[in-house]
Amino acid sequence: MTGLSDTFNRPINYLRMSVTDRCNLRCIYCLPAEGIRLLPHGEILTYEEIDTIARLASELGINKLRLTGGEPLVRVRLPELVAMLAEIDTIDDISLTTNGILLKDYASELKQAGLKRVNISLDSLNEDKFEHITRHRKLNEVLQGIEAAKACGLNPVKINMVVMRGINDDEIVDFANLTITEGWHVRFIELMPFATDNPPECHSTGGETELHPQFMSAQQIKERLNILGKMEACKKPVTGNGPAKYFRFPQTTGTIGFITPISEHFCFNCNRLRLTAEGKLRPCLLSDQEIDLRQPLRDGASPEKLKQVITEAIQTKPRQHHLPQGTIPKTRRMSQVGG
Ligand code: 5AD
Ligand code: SF4
Repeated sequence: MTGLSDTFNRPINYLRMSVTDRCNLRCIYCLPAEGIRLLPHGEILTYEEIDTIARLASELGINKLRLTGGEPLVRVRLPELVAMLAEIDTIDDISLTTNGILLKDYASELKQAGLKRVNISLDSLNEDKFEHITRHRKLNEVLQGIEAAKACGLNPVKINMVVMRGINDDEIVDFANLTITEGWHVRFIELMPFATDNPPECHSTGGETELHPQFMSAQQIKERLNILGKMEACKKPVTGNGPAKYFRFPQTTGTIGFITPISEHFCFNCNRLRLTAEGKLRPCLLSDQEIDLRQPLRDGASPEKLKQVITEAIQTKPRQHHLPQGTIPKTRRMSQVGG
């Protein structure tokens, strides 16, 4: 296999596929309370179409897949898609990013279907605050989902916490503590300014010097952790080669990761391509540029032609994003790209 690379010589081997734009939560930094206009069903790729794209991408050198949303588990029979994808010989890793609410019902079926691991988004361990952030009172479901994922071996279970000053920063230490007491793998994510018409509590940066009032840098988050002792850098990433930098407290099995899209971009290492639920290839999460794959697919384009579209999309991958300078993606919300 020759493998794919972009015009900046970055190898591209990781495809993140959004399977739906729907979500059963309304996180304040992602969606307005009333939700957004959703795609009609006919516009969403079928499982067969997603499978076809994954197969073609794997022939080009993609060997890692992640399913995202919206919330991927609100799409019916997701384990069936996982099972289809697990049959692709050259795919080594299939993972899922979920808010965890439905995970207790699906974890074991997903594992059996061939899913390797899950990332679970959880921004608060406090029921009231969880409700404030997600606009639903479902913390317990998520905690049960985490336990179910661990119990059936979807390891490592990673917990993603988007840190927001004045909202959940008082829980940074509580989350970190769970890496010591429960062996959790927690990743602190810097808040990214996304779609401009977000609710007032999460408006965009608007310029180089004007940071979002809730923004906290990884450095500031780290300082809060001093109270728990000194962390050591992990030599090896927990899994994969993602953007997080990992640390741990001595003699603990859990880890603490930092994802720093704002304070220290990791674009030079980016190995990803994204596919939206309606079949647009998006070379960069944070750039609005997209190439449509659904139309040629539904028009019956040959596998060669479709592979050419995928290759072309990769060639348009920008060198880096410009979030700190105030350039933010405008056409989609996070729930429409998949994070
Ligand atoms: N900034 C940072 N992370 C975000 N996510 C969603 N929106 C944002 C944002 N504006 C995270 C979710 C989830 C992943 C898919 O992306 O919490 O962990
Ligand atoms: Fe929250 Fe993710 Fe749903 Fe957006 S897509 S509302 S971040 S759970």
